Amino acid sequence: MSATQEYLSKKTPQEGNSSTLQDFKSLIKDVFSFNPGKACLTLILVILVGITNGVSIVVLIPLIQVTGFGELKDTDDYLSKLITRFFDFIGIHPSLGGVLLIFFLVFLSMALLQYQQIKSSTSLANKFSAYKREGLYKQIFNSQWSFFFKNKMAHTASILTVEAQRVMLACDSLFRLTSESFLTMSYIVLALILSWQVTVIVVFAGAAISWFMRKQIHSGRRIGKNITEYNNNLQSAVWEHLGSAKVIKSYSAEKQSSELFQKLVYKVSELYILFLTSQARIKAVFEPITVAILCIGLYVALTFFNINTANLIVLLLIFYRLFPKISSVQQYYHKFLAAISAYTAICSLEKIASSSHEYFNGKKEVTSFSEGITLENVSFSYHPENGDTLSDINISIPYGKTIALVGESGAGKSTIADLILGLLLPAKGALYVDKEDISNIDLKSWRSHIGYVTQDTLLFHDSILSNLLWVNPEASESDISRALRIASADEFVKNLSEGINTIIGDRGVRLSGGQRQRLALARALLRNPGLLILDEATSSLDAESEKRIQEAIESLQGSLTILIITHRLATVRNADFIYTMSEGKIVESGSWDDLTENTSGYFYSLCGLQGLVEQ
Ligand SMILES: Nc1ncnc2c1ncn2[C@@H]1O[C@H](COP(=O)(O)OP(=O)(O)O)[C@@H](O)[C@H]1O
Ligand SMILES: [Mg+2]
Repeated sequence: MSATQEYLSKKTPQEGNSSTLQDFKSLIKDVFSFNPGKACLTLILVILVGITNGVSIVVLIPLIQVTGFGELKDTDDYLSKLITRFFDFIGIHPSLGGVLLIFFLVFLSMALLQYQQIKSSTSLANKFSAYKREGLYKQIFNSQWSFFFKNKMAHTASILTVEAQRVMLACDSLFRLTSESFLTMSYIVLALILSWQVTVIVVFAGAAISWFMRKQIHSGRRIGKNITEYNNNLQSAVWEHLGSAKVIKSYSAEKQSSELFQKLVYKVSELYILFLTSQARIKAVFEPITVAILCIGLYVALTFFNINTANLIVLLLIFYRLFPKISSVQQYYHKFLAAISAYTAICSLEKIASSSHEYFNGKKEVTSFSEGITLENVSFSYHPENGDTLSDINISIPYGKTIALVGESGAGKSTIADLILGLLLPAKGALYVDKEDISNIDLKSWRSHIGYVTQDTLLFHDSILSNLLWVNPEASESDISRALRIASADEFVKNLSEGINTIIGDRGVRLSGGQRQRLALARALLRNPGLLILDEATSSLDAESEKRIQEAIESLQGSLTILIITHRLATVRNADFIYTMSEGKIVESGSWDDLTENTSGYFYSLCGLQGLVEQ
């Protein structure tokens, strides 16, 4: 079994059912290995913000005491002693002004640290999401051709765009979660110092509520997965609808497609509403209960434990601040769970792409292509269980010759081009490039000798010049004008308002089909290819454009190897040799004259169907 076949028969790895903890761990690991310095800095800032937050509350104790709620020296709890020692150390008697100054300085540093922390974590989250996006893009383009037809491209697009953005959210909520958790911990530690009995009661009660609400919180993950799925569907719909706008309009099917689109849009918004309401519900249930617990805690503190006024006020303040923190920890966790599905989706697509990496790439570089290509008893199948797509193909493409591959649509012609390009590998038999088996060849070096023009050529929304230079950035001005001249594109390019700098493509100047194909041919020629593959390159063109390209191809004959793939026989009259295909097999071959002489042959009957011979 060939590598391609092996990959094709492999099941697509499903999105793993990894646990939240695993996802959590792998995200953290990923972020830390992406930028260890920045990740550590963010973590340190998170801790510092937590500490200053705690200190900002502790400073309240002397503040309250100097304002007359009790003598600082009178108290004997640990925290008050610590504060007294601190003032002794800096040599200031805790006066109102001094305490206020410290109070201000603590808040100032807290604000600055918080700013730095948000800056650092936001930049880390965004850069990380960009890094994942870029990595995935590279993985995708390093994978085998089969990746592109095995996976729905609209889903891949959605993961590269929408989901990659949500990874930023996952990261951001993770940092906030850490920061809020740290703050919560520091509040709890402070509260424990002030009155451990009351704190234990309150914290236990808080933990109990969280436990009861765990289902609510975990609903975030389920909703998140659904959001990922429907975002993908929405993206597919956008692609399909915009891509077939003409068909939709011509069938007056606007209503049907808009209903389809609407359904998806509403589903996505419904999911977001579900997510936000569930978040609001958590808050709505959590807050009144926490206030009730706080009241009970206070009641206990005042009735059963003797706490001095300053400490009691501070304790109250801590709890007052602590509860929103606990609820925001819950909210960030909920948000994190909803966004982690995006991270999982990226990772699993990365896995799929890397498992279909072009691993059958050989080591031998093709420095020059000079002898030709041979296919020996080649068989191939997209779905082995459904039989062969190509069986027992023998083709010889000598260097410098023009070879045609004809046959009805679905015969397997383009699959042969894919095999020659090394996009697919034969399941049986072998394909040789200059006598070297293609599986030993470095595919990039081989492809650099090929110019490939298909029926629907991709031109980018950019200038004609950039579109041409895309295949050969080093091409000189004379190379470019030569390529344009041979492809007979020079004249129409000259007549465009801005010549070669005219913007074409999606939102640029609309070129006719013939003009686009001539540019595509020029682009292919700019690579100075040893082999030019024209796969139905003129099939969708009007007679005039077809003729011009035909002439261009004829002028090239002999100077390089040309493989013309077409179902239109009239265009291969001048080919040196013609292979006729039907249902994955070569059924006839020979020169035009040989083939048309055999009046009982398949080629002759095809010529008859196309009105090229009398029947
Ligand atoms: N990506 C693919 N996955 C599965 N089957 C495919 C794929 N591409 C082509 N085929 C099938 O392989 C056969 C040959 O296709 P192709 O080589 O494109 O034919 P041609 O170029 O002669 O029209 C057809 O039956 C087609 O349906
Ligand atoms: Mg085809």
